[in-house]
Amino acid sequence: MKALILSGGKGTRLRPLTYTGAKQLVPVANKPILWYGIEGIVAAGITDIGIVISPETGEEVKNLTGNGDRFGASITYILQEEPAGLAHAVKIAQPFLGDSPFIMYLGDNLIQNDLTPFLHDFKTHHLDALILLRPVENPTAFGVAKVDESGRVLQLVEKPQVPPSNLALVGIYYFSPNVHEAIAQIQPSARGELEITDAIQNLIDRAQPVESRILDGWWLDTGKKDDLLSANQIILDSDVRTEIYGALDESSQAIGRVKIGRGTTVKNSSIRGPVVIGENCHLENCFIGPYSSIADNVRLIDVDLEHSVILQEAKIEGIHQRIVDSLIGRRAHLGAARPRPKALRFMVGDDCQIELA
Ligand code: DAU
Repeated sequence: MKALILSGGKGTRLRPLTYTGAKQLVPVANKPILWYGIEGIVAAGITDIGIVISPETGEEVKNLTGNGDRFGASITYILQEEPAGLAHAVKIAQPFLGDSPFIMYLGDNLIQNDLTPFLHDFKTHHLDALILLRPVENPTAFGVAKVDESGRVLQLVEKPQVPPSNLALVGIYYFSPNVHEAIAQIQPSARGELEITDAIQNLIDRAQPVESRILDGWWLDTGKKDDLLSANQIILDSDVRTEIYGALDESSQAIGRVKIGRGTTVKNSSIRGPVVIGENCHLENCFIGPYSSIADNVRLIDVDLEHSVILQEAKIEGIHQRIVDSLIGRRAHLGAARPRPKALRFMVGDDCQIELA
């Protein structure tokens, strides 16, 4: 059994962050989203992993993630020249996949469930495809499945205007090598992509065994800011333990579960967990509220922050209003020239969103 993680694509919904970086590397609780997928796959006993990368962000994914040693796995990188669809990614990965069954994992998805029980069902039922489904309120944003009472899949449609059910396809699929034949038989969709939903529909039409399971744990498709903040909240809630390697002065306090990395200094500040703060940060006169993740080399002075994700090397100084529900990109700088500013002065990149709430 192998695994194929899709970490190419364009990431348009997380712009502007994805102009300069891969969306799969945006951190959740200070760890790239992609790494949660790798860890879940390794925990299911699969260590031969291919990662599909794009020309724009592939080097960054490769440099950060490495050859797999840190996960106890072997990682092969597969370059997809164009984001021509999920089934196209499988097609170009065929030399890596060979005739092995495999898990296909979309690199921007996060799930709570263990992958092992599904893997067991996939193997023992001798399936050509096992897909995971989850009821959602907005099925038009996903692949949607119609299933019978036994979980047998009858129909799949990608982002339908009139959904046949409320069951969205989660971005984790189990395939036998027969999927390659199905992919060879499909044509690009109206949006010009070779769709994996069409390949699975092809298996169904040829009466090959395709089953589904409903996910009972949480699932996050971290394609947008609010999804990312929810993922951050859930992971901080479940995973953070108190670990303080940085230095807090005597007028600072950390309450609840708080993790602070090496080389970080905290002066005259309160931190109320769950919170993670990376390495070599400097915080002074701050209140950091629950569900905040602060990456390495961040500087925060006179800041009141809650339920937010701050990326590497960002600087925030003297903003006296509380900052909430925010995602601040790498090297971004937010500052106030005086205690009660009289005007707002911006230099904001393309596709940024600023909301004075
Ligand atoms: O998240 C679940 C949904 O993922 C499913 O419900 C849909 O059926 C499925 O098509 C997919 O929809 P998205 O619109 O979320 O797909 P997205 O374009 O965001 O791509 C998903 C991942 O695959 C992402 O990490 C980028 C990567 N990718 C995407 C394409 C189109 C590639 O590596 N190569 C590609 O050609």
